Amino acid sequence: MKGVILAGGNGTRLHPITLGASKQLLPVYDKPLIYYPLSVLMLAGITDIQIITAPDEAQAFHRLLGDGSWLGISLTYAEQDEPRGLADAFLVSADHIGGDSVALVLGDNIFHGYEFGPMLQRLSEDVRGCFLFGYPVRDPERYGVGVLDERNELVAIEEKPARPRSNMAITGLYLYDHKVVDFARGLRPSARGELEITDLNRIYLERGEATLIPLGRGFVWLDAGTHDALIDAGNYVQVLEHRQGVRIACLEEIAWRMGYIDRETCYDLGSRLATSPYGRYIMETAEAW
Ligand code: DAU
Repeated sequence: MKGVILAGGNGTRLHPITLGASKQLLPVYDKPLIYYPLSVLMLAGITDIQIITAPDEAQAFHRLLGDGSWLGISLTYAEQDEPRGLADAFLVSADHIGGDSVALVLGDNIFHGYEFGPMLQRLSEDVRGCFLFGYPVRDPERYGVGVLDERNELVAIEEKPARPRSNMAITGLYLYDHKVVDFARGLRPSARGELEITDLNRIYLERGEATLIPLGRGFVWLDAGTHDALIDAGNYVQVLEHRQGVRIACLEEIAWRMGYIDRETCYDLGSRLATSPYGRYIMETAEAW
């Protein structure tokens, strides 16, 4: 399975911050925002990943993450010349995806929950149709919304409905089988001029091939697309990391635990950042094992 991180867009809801920097490179407590969605793909066992950026921004992401070989993975970059919608990711990354299945994650989404990695690994081994992930929220009108029937089967998907029929938001992580690029090629822009991921998901739904997996109450899903959401996400990460002494989305630790790099390499990566608590955490974690 291939991975795609959609990290473009204009970030207008974060102006003026995003006039000079990409949203997905902004800090969420101790690391750049993009570390969080990248960690999700790595925990799912996906090692061939393309990052889609806004025009002229791939270089900044490349400066941060390079070709991924330091993490034992492959990272490539593609530019989306205009924010044409989430489903445009499959057209921009068509060559990268080839005939494979693919996981798309939005570059501003943060997921944190027990055993999430193993669950994604199981699902990605045999994707039939598409897997969507639902999360109950207080303000579903801000999101794609899934409607389940009494047998918990997905019966409808609506994009930012004025009157939501459920409180189940569809999160920014999507797993698709090999048909997704073809389906995306057949989409037409919506009234707001975008290729909508919700229209793509509806194609799968109408074929009886869309599954919505509700993420439980103990799970945390945040999107860091507004000033308040960004600070809330930072506070959440800070509280958890201080309380538990472990770090969320520490790419070096994940690369080692997933077997993409060995323990010595992990330690070395930490030692290069030894002046920061993040770097020292990596060294201590690799040493303690
Ligand atoms: O966060 C989950 C939600 O994401 C879903 O529930 C919705 O169904 C889905 O449409 C999307 O809603 P948003 O309003 O949050 O999408 P937004 O336009 O903010 O785009 C999400 C991210 O993708 C954002 O960080 C910018 C990036 N993006 C967006 C577009 C439209 C791109 O890189 N390229 C694009 O063309």
